[in-house]
Amino acid sequence: MTHHLIRFKQLIKARCGLMFEGNSEANLQQVLNERARILALEPASYYERLKSSVAEFQELVNRLTINETYFFRESEQIRLLVDHLVPRFLARREGRAALRILSAGCSSGEEPYSLAMALMDKYGERSAGLFDIHGADIDSAALAKARNARYTRFSFRGVSDEAQSRYFDKEDWGHVLKVSVRKQVSFHSLNLLAESLPPQLNDFDIVFFRNVSIYFDAPTRQRVQHKLASMMKDQGVLVMGAAETLANDLGVLPLVEDAGQFYFVKGGSSWPAQNPQTMMPDRATPVTTPPLPQLHMALERVPVQRPSAIADVLQVPLPDFETLYGLVRDKQFDQALPLLDAVLIQAGSSTWARLLKANVLINRKEFSAAENLAQEVLAADAWSIDALLLLGLAAKWQQQPEVAVRWFKQATYSRHECWPAQYYLADLYRRGGESDLARRAYRVVIQLLSDKEPDTGIQYLPLDLPIGQVRFLCEHQLAKLPVDKALESQR
Ligand SMILES: C[S@@+](CC[C@H](N)C(=O)[O-])C[C@H]1O[C@@H](n2cnc3c(N)ncnc32)[C@H](O)[C@@H]1O
Repeated sequence: MTHHLIRFKQLIKARCGLMFEGNSEANLQQVLNERARILALEPASYYERLKSSVAEFQELVNRLTINETYFFRESEQIRLLVDHLVPRFLARREGRAALRILSAGCSSGEEPYSLAMALMDKYGERSAGLFDIHGADIDSAALAKARNARYTRFSFRGVSDEAQSRYFDKEDWGHVLKVSVRKQVSFHSLNLLAESLPPQLNDFDIVFFRNVSIYFDAPTRQRVQHKLASMMKDQGVLVMGAAETLANDLGVLPLVEDAGQFYFVKGGSSWPAQNPQTMMPDRATPVTTPPLPQLHMALERVPVQRPSAIADVLQVPLPDFETLYGLVRDKQFDQALPLLDAVLIQAGSSTWARLLKANVLINRKEFSAAENLAQEVLAADAWSIDALLLLGLAAKWQQQPEVAVRWFKQATYSRHECWPAQYYLADLYRRGGESDLARRAYRVVIQLLSDKEPDTGIQYLPLDLPIGQVRFLCEHQLAKLPVDKALESQR
């Protein structure tokens, strides 16, 4: 299959925009092998099948999309919707038509349902008449989950217990969303790269399109933004993830700053000032991003912070690695992030800035953006211990133990002495009930830590594992694990 990979990659990218570089290529390869095996086809015949069969293409896409999402993700943008955008749209709406809101790339529904719940919090029962909310995605399996509206705890990272009990009924295995919220949202199949659109998906006032563009290259992002613009009313608003907004300032829709946040407005902003008494006028202002050629190069690859924060830091000399390493080590993330963005703008390929930024993003649970950065580093250096560890940690935090084990294993293949990777592996094996593997890995860690200066191979990331404590924990866990008689007798 390997030498056919390019053709598959081209076909998938042309049809739905998804790209597979670096390590995600291995995942693509695995999925293609699996589908070809299930259908008992050689790679060349499977390629032909994929080209001609809509059903098979859908099947493949469902396996390739990354659906990570959770309720009230980036909640400050949801506040922007409820507190600023919706009141203005309602004030200027003509007649009694409901405001049309779309979550494009809605995955399993957490995003559009969050918008519905936040609006119901403010507008109560009037919501049903005021808002017409839609979710759309290319992945038919994710849409089926969205329509089913049953969620496990992984979807609830941003929901208070009180909101959970108000909008969900608890069942043994998880939570089911109440009908009052479900009936506020309708779901549709949508490929943003397709020529035609479902007829219901037009004339939107507000579009949320978050954490999807990160899987596309710049020309695809531009094409998709034209498509989204065609689905919006004049003066309609497009909200993207905070970390991806600037990378999508591609000359299609004007970018505006409003209430400390950034979004795009079809035709540019013409909000009337709503509240002249306040210090900050409630008016969105057009933003001009710095016209540096390097900036655009960097933005094509790196999701960056708010433009004003970048502009601020571009005025001062850039900090060096030691300073930024210190900030990240001391968890001064708010201070570190705009500075790291500034470094990435001026030296787009800075490996250490990418890795430190990915480290910060993982701490903020912005996993997709962190994984993207780590993947970019791996694309240049397939054995980067730092990148492999970050990907392992991102998977571990997202409760994907098998994926995490794969990344940590790869780190130990790259450098056996990388005791943090061995330690995380031991921990994952123990939690997964793999006592033999856990025991072996804990012993490796203890042995490595008995060296005077164990060389982990980590180049740029601050190590958050105190050696003494790790040694103690390994010994403690080893003592608690059941004894493997066969192994003990060989020792
Ligand atoms: C990471 S999820 C984002 C979910 C949600 N917007 C959020 O921010 O939490 C990305 C979603 O984009 C969808 N997607 C990818 N390519 C697409 C395309 N060409 N058209 C429509 N949806 C697409 C994927 O199926 C996936 O569910």
